[in-house]
Amino acid sequence: MKVLGEEEWKTLLGLERASMKYGFADPGMASRLAGIPVERVNFALDRLSRRDLVRARGANFTLTFSAIEALALREYVRRGLISALGAIIAKGKESDVYEAFTEEGGLLAVKFFKIGRTSFRDVARKRSLERSETKGWIARNYEAAKKELSSLRKLEGLTKSVPRAIAHDRSTVLLEELSGVKLVERPELDDPPLILKEIIDCVRVAYTEAGMINADLSEYNILTDGRSVWLIDWPQAVRTTHPNSAALLQRDLHTVLKFFRRVYRVLLEESEVADYVVGRRATLGIRRAGPAS
Ligand SMILES: Nc1ncnc2c1ncn2[C@@H]1O[C@H](COP(=O)(O)OP(=O)(O)OP(=O)(O)O)[C@@H](O)[C@H]1O
Ligand SMILES: [Mg+2]
Repeated sequence: MKVLGEEEWKTLLGLERASMKYGFADPGMASRLAGIPVERVNFALDRLSRRDLVRARGANFTLTFSAIEALALREYVRRGLISALGAIIAKGKESDVYEAFTEEGGLLAVKFFKIGRTSFRDVARKRSLERSETKGWIARNYEAAKKELSSLRKLEGLTKSVPRAIAHDRSTVLLEELSGVKLVERPELDDPPLILKEIIDCVRVAYTEAGMINADLSEYNILTDGRSVWLIDWPQAVRTTHPNSAALLQRDLHTVLKFFRRVYRVLLEESEVADYVVGRRATLGIRRAGPAS
């Protein structure tokens, strides 16, 4: 980020706006939208493509994920939210998560959405980027980040079992950094039934008070430090009014209950849990049987 000059940033912003507006960006459009002469844009494009921040597709240019992420990080810095990026925390199918630092030395996590990363590469290789495709993949990732922020904001104050969302910019969200490991790693829990109860209570509050279902809940999307849990990964959350809401809620609960039954030997009746989550039951009885596997 430090090596980019003002005209290169402006060119990236011009390309971004052109892509969002027209689905593609040529130097003329970028020049108009960035407010700098086209020969300066061409000069900037040349330097940007050597850093793999833009790629040429015939007469058009497309931004890369790195360019979008640089624009987002620059914005977080401008807003005084972060001052530096740290190590990578996790690399997933649809996102990369990095540690970030605040000016006061606090720790945050930045989630960079990369939906369509593979197919975008394939398309790029074929050199046949359609007009609407750039707009498509940029918009999809911006949308996912925005959705994750809005879902987490709806849960804020209702439960302690989700990360606090601080901000969203472009294809990224800035989150409170959690100190936990994924449940799939089968960590030792102080009190497995209590942890399961905490998870179910979070699902219940999301359902009854925020009108939301995570819809991708599993041992991969729950972090724990052994005493507390956090339900993460909310971009695909659906409203309880969604036509498939019953099936999605059932799948979320089934996945979690199956995992706790198999690994921690905590037994719960699925239908009882479902009734509790949607508010048809006021209490829940949790039993444990035998040593954990
Ligand atoms: N707020 C956070 N604090 C610390 N680590 C986090 C945080 N959010 C996510 N992570 C780490 O990043 C990983 C991926 O996050 P998340 O599940 O939200 O994204 P994803 O797109 O589903 O990634 P994947 O494709 O791997 O499932 C998590 O499993 C976790 O290890
Ligand atoms: Mg995940």
